[in-house]
Amino acid sequence: MSEYGTVVSTPDSPCTRKFSFVIKKDAIVRKGQFVEVAIEGGRLIGRVADVFKTNRYFERPESVERYENSRPMEDIFPVGNWEYLVAEVAPLGVYGSEGRFEEVSFPPSPGAKVNEPERFVLLKFLGFDEKGLEIGELPFHDVKVRLNLTRMLQKHLAILAISGAGKSYLVSVILEELLRRKKEEGQLATVIIDTHGEYVSLADDPNYTDKVNVIRGDEIKIGLSNLSAQQISEFMPNLSHVQAREFSRLLRSMKSGKKHFGIEELMKTIEEDEKTKAVTKEVLNSVLVELTETGLFDATDKPSVRELAQQGKVSIIDLSSFVSSTQKQMIVSHVARNLFNLRREESIPPFLLVLEEAHQFVPEGAKAERAMSRGIIQTIAREGRKFHASLCLISQRPVQLSTTVLSQCNTHIILRVTNPYDLDHIGESSEGITRDVLNQISGLRVGTGLIVGEAVNYPIFVRVRKRISKESSKGMPLEEAAREFANRVKQKKEDAKSFM
Ligand SMILES: Nc1ncnc2c1ncn2[C@@H]1O[C@H](COP(=O)(O)OP(=O)(O)OP(=O)(O)O)[C@@H](O)[C@H]1O
Ligand SMILES: [Mg+2]
Repeated sequence: MSEYGTVVSTPDSPCTRKFSFVIKKDAIVRKGQFVEVAIEGGRLIGRVADVFKTNRYFERPESVERYENSRPMEDIFPVGNWEYLVAEVAPLGVYGSEGRFEEVSFPPSPGAKVNEPERFVLLKFLGFDEKGLEIGELPFHDVKVRLNLTRMLQKHLAILAISGAGKSYLVSVILEELLRRKKEEGQLATVIIDTHGEYVSLADDPNYTDKVNVIRGDEIKIGLSNLSAQQISEFMPNLSHVQAREFSRLLRSMKSGKKHFGIEELMKTIEEDEKTKAVTKEVLNSVLVELTETGLFDATDKPSVRELAQQGKVSIIDLSSFVSSTQKQMIVSHVARNLFNLRREESIPPFLLVLEEAHQFVPEGAKAERAMSRGIIQTIAREGRKFHASLCLISQRPVQLSTTVLSQCNTHIILRVTNPYDLDHIGESSEGITRDVLNQISGLRVGTGLIVGEAVNYPIFVRVRKRISKESSKGMPLEEAAREFANRVKQKKEDAKSFM
């Protein structure tokens, strides 16, 4: 435990809200670092809010100006000996003598020694779990950030940042941690909606290949016979109430007769039904033609959601081949609803659904009422906790992400965000973020983030650890992509020549 310095007395400190200490000559203290100081009844833990320099010789502008006119001050006075580094600390809490944490109700004394906090105290104080998910390390301290699984995921996680700040990289690190867990530590079934096909490379990594299952978007089929009335109205938002009811009735009657059926059979049944009015038939028919054209529907679900949700494994749903946002939403809605329903019946393990580009699937705003996947994701956000159905939402546009859903995500990991509207939105929906911390978010470097909420006792910054698995080529630098393209063209030409 090294000593950092000594508490000094200033006109308005030390008090319970702040104190300052003069930093020892050989000690290194930086903004953001944690410190401890003994107080009555325990040890006070605080965070360095700022570091500044003082020098008495330079306090009075008029004398500095006068002296400097004749000779440089350092030739006249020993100014170098009078420069001091002072750290201002924001107290966070007190580690009491009985090992409990309490609020700061008493200040440290001027003259008290400020030290580097002991490791075990810091771990306990911040709420880390030695057996948790190791996502990185605490800046300035030799402490790994290991977050408790329940605290981090049970009440959902949101990862927010501008494009290129390291969101998907962090998700890959989290996946590695989930896949590393042993049976006795509790394993989740993880399903990722991979909108850009970035995670697919995980399956090629020999360390992970047998735990990863990739499903290409065009392999996915939604079983018509499994659709509920609710889903029908979601998938066919243009139907009137009456038409939707009529459709449900027809579907129900078909289900009672046959286990599996496709769209053609359904269309035929509607055509032949005597109770349905001709206009309704026409509308239903045209809607079903539209659905057929998506190529997404079939007699049964493929793959079944049970296959997707396997304990200790990751299923990656690669939607990179889809252009249509409606079709992507249909798949997300289908997968999410089935996962949630099966989880409620406890027929699948506790799961984590990771949603990239979450603002596309759960948008904010009235118009977004029509976003097909919004309802079910909101339901999981609200009720999932009780059933161990967790969400991890990733977005580069927090402003466009449903506020309801964002506020249900009790842990936020925020990497670099620069847009002032997004920053305000984050400030409003994340508890415990002060203005000062919020301001630091826009200056974060790639791979550094702020964790706030349920997973930690206090907001902390984290340096995301290096991933073990190989990165997808989707993130390669521009130069490399350009070179690779040129090489490929060259190779093709050579191949063509040798063929002639
Ligand atoms: N913790 C990290 N350590 C080292 N490199 C990182 C780290 N995080 C991100 N990077 C680098 O930054 C690049 C961008 O990261 P990433 O693809 O995760 O960004 P993103 O936030 O998901 O962006 P987008 O919103 O465009 O999807 C990656 O290719 C990676 O090389
Ligand atoms: Mg990404």
